[in-house]
Amino acid sequence: MLVTGKEILLHAQKNGYAVGAFNINNMEIVQAIVEAANELNSPVILQASQGGIKYAGIEYISDLGKTASRLAKVPVTLHLDHGTDFDQVMLCIRNGFSSVMIDGSKFALEENIAYSKKVVEIAHAVGVSVEAELGKIGGTEDHITVSDRDATFTDPEEARRFVEETKVDSLAIAVGTAHGVYKGEPKIDFDRIKAIREVVSVPLVLHGSSGVPYDALRKAIPLGICKINIDTDIRATFAKSVKNFFVEHPDEIDPRKILGPAREAMKETVKEKIEVFGSVGKA
Ligand code: G3H
Ligand code: 13P
Ligand code: ZN
Ligand code: NA
Repeated sequence: MLVTGKEILLHAQKNGYAVGAFNINNMEIVQAIVEAANELNSPVILQASQGGIKYAGIEYISDLGKTASRLAKVPVTLHLDHGTDFDQVMLCIRNGFSSVMIDGSKFALEENIAYSKKVVEIAHAVGVSVEAELGKIGGTEDHITVSDRDATFTDPEEARRFVEETKVDSLAIAVGTAHGVYKGEPKIDFDRIKAIREVVSVPLVLHGSSGVPYDALRKAIPLGICKINIDTDIRATFAKSVKNFFVEHPDEIDPRKILGPAREAMKETVKEKIEVFGSVGKA
């Protein structure tokens, strides 16, 4: 069933686990994620980025997400990932998303607060939850110096003020993770997660979680991380499966034969993550 981000994340917060938020771009990915969640009796978040929406089209992506939610026996949230554009956020709400992210992290604090607050007022009026971002989550660069970290990582006092003024339902924080593939091993600032959690009551969100060692993720969850975003690791599984398939079957032309094994492989990747996040049996 389709539920809001707030509902799914508050349950996670209360019960000490994290919900996986997996990026969706096509039918096979949606099915892989929801089948994995169903088999493990775990709540799950399907999230579409603006790029994913552009690729599939808003109707296709929202109908895929809603169909999967309706068929699932576990709670599913359909969420906009990194919405930077106000109209895009409104389009997702109109098309039945139960949660949206407003990413105003490129703005200075005051502007980010004002932008996020405006989205919260509208989304809450129609029962849609909102995630916002404070601090700058890395790209794929590596080896961030200490002064860079202080400049871009989420400041706990700013986080407290941000949540209080915007009334967002969850907060994405910058604590050392980055989108995409890591060159070295990411260094998570666990003390910062703890410090933010001490002054912020809403569930915290970890972006860029593909490639983060499982021990680090397991350590971050009791400190306050309730939503863990994964895209890159599913892409890698997909690509590996398709490449291997063509090595063994260079003449195959049936998309079902090519994508079927990729869907199975992605399901296994998602199951592995769900087990690490501790949400098995929590639906
Ligand atoms: O945060 C980034 C997500 O991995 C989505 O990536 O914008 O290429 O769809 P994308
Ligand atoms: P990864 O690129 O590490 O999978 O991060 C995905 C993400 O944060 C989507 O918002
Ligand atoms: Zn992200
Ligand atoms: Na990553």
